[in-house]
Amino acid sequence: MRAGALLRPPPAVLAEPPAGSGLAGVPGDRGLPLIGYSVQIQREALAFGRWRYDTYGPVSWGSMFGVRLVGVLGPDGTEAVLVNRDKAFSQAGWSYFIGPFFRRGLMLLDFTEHHYHRRIMQDAFTRDRLAGYLDAMQPGLAAGVKAWEPAEGFSWYDAMKHLLLRNATDVFVGVELGDRQQRIFQAFLDTVRAGLSVVRKPVPGGRWAAGLRGRRVLEEFFSGELPAKRASRDADLFSVLCRARSEDGEQFSDADVVNHMIFLLMAAHDTTTIAMASIGYQLARHPDWQERLRAEVLAAPEQLSYADLDALPSVDLVTKESLRLLSPVHVMPRKAVKDTEVLGHHIPAGTFVNVSPWFNHTMGEYWPDPLRFDPERFAEHRREDKVHRYAWAPFGGGVHKCIGMSFGTMQIKATLNQLLRQYRWSVPAGYEMPVDTRALPVPADKLPVRLERL
Ligand code: HEM
Repeated sequence: MRAGALLRPPPAVLAEPPAGSGLAGVPGDRGLPLIGYSVQIQREALAFGRWRYDTYGPVSWGSMFGVRLVGVLGPDGTEAVLVNRDKAFSQAGWSYFIGPFFRRGLMLLDFTEHHYHRRIMQDAFTRDRLAGYLDAMQPGLAAGVKAWEPAEGFSWYDAMKHLLLRNATDVFVGVELGDRQQRIFQAFLDTVRAGLSVVRKPVPGGRWAAGLRGRRVLEEFFSGELPAKRASRDADLFSVLCRARSEDGEQFSDADVVNHMIFLLMAAHDTTTIAMASIGYQLARHPDWQERLRAEVLAAPEQLSYADLDALPSVDLVTKESLRLLSPVHVMPRKAVKDTEVLGHHIPAGTFVNVSPWFNHTMGEYWPDPLRFDPERFAEHRREDKVHRYAWAPFGGGVHKCIGMSFGTMQIKATLNQLLRQYRWSVPAGYEMPVDTRALPVPADKLPVRLERL
């Protein structure tokens, strides 16, 4: 963290707390001229967090991505921000980054409006619906995994991205894309990539412009398919959202369904792909765990029912540990809508605040030997995650906690069920997966593995 230290201005508080409030100002510094800490946080998110924590404590500010951002590190602060007791933090933190591409997605809505939409969407994630999605996803997963071509430097991440995107079109969209597939997939990928582009203006040929174009393509596509979906009784998520009702009978408008579909595709796809990259990496490095999981899935039926998912305890342990060591949503930005406080620090209205479960997951203060892959730490006889309610929070917490948590873990199990039956995979001794954190954390080298058919 010494790079650029001489150019850094001296520490200063973000804003003086109101006289007599008993609060402290948030300590920190702007970082390098113009770019602040944008590059460090993207290059070495965990080391940057550790340096901030050791230098300033759990609450500190720095400039990055064109704003002053307060980083709240550690489970106590994470709980305070996510539980959001006095409704001081809004999702405008997310909107700043991804709003133009994912506007009116559930995660970008606030307070009463969010509550209204969440209650309706909940109807698409009941146990019965999940069981239906599980049935629908398995044939496509089995065939998609079978089509993989074993190789020495097989690109696990790219193959997984493609597999799960195809799976999402089966289970989420339920529309035969035919020759539209390439255009829709590209629009989706452009929309996702645009969110954290460095140039945040629609420069021709740039990521931002491609993202806006992608958003238009997706809107046209979903709007065009909507009348048929409204009329159908299909089990895919798109149809289900058309019919979803809250307990009080409220339903989504056409525009709501389109906005939610675009957001849900992103929320589900990128996160699960990253989770599967982390799991694939850990199992490649730990053949003993890979064999243990293989034995477990082979003892279960090839076509899993929803009840069978509970009979895969080792898969659960590995999933939890892999999500701890690489958290797909490693940042959760918020914006203060009024003056508030976090851990006794004054946060003025308008401040961007971020919490980072990934950093919390690697804190030696809470986890013994935090960087070691040790799935048993989640086993009943140890339960190291119980040290704090927010020590392990890859799915977030509070009212915005991931609505797709059960769907995501179900999809992970169904995918692993096929992979472990069909292949064995490994990486060379000493290999460490480099992580690119310019957007959500992904393997910088696409995770090349040695893949062998069983
Ligand atoms: C391993 C997979 C996944 C991880 C790690 C994950 C993580 C998260 C996290 C951390 C949040 C909260 C963000 C915040 O508060 O700022 C979130 C929200 C959300 N996730 Fe997931 N997610 C996963 C899979 C899914 C899936 C499969 C779906 C859909 C089927 C989904 C849909 C959503 C939605 C709609 C929200 C917004 C909820 C709200 O604001 O009420 N996620 N997710």
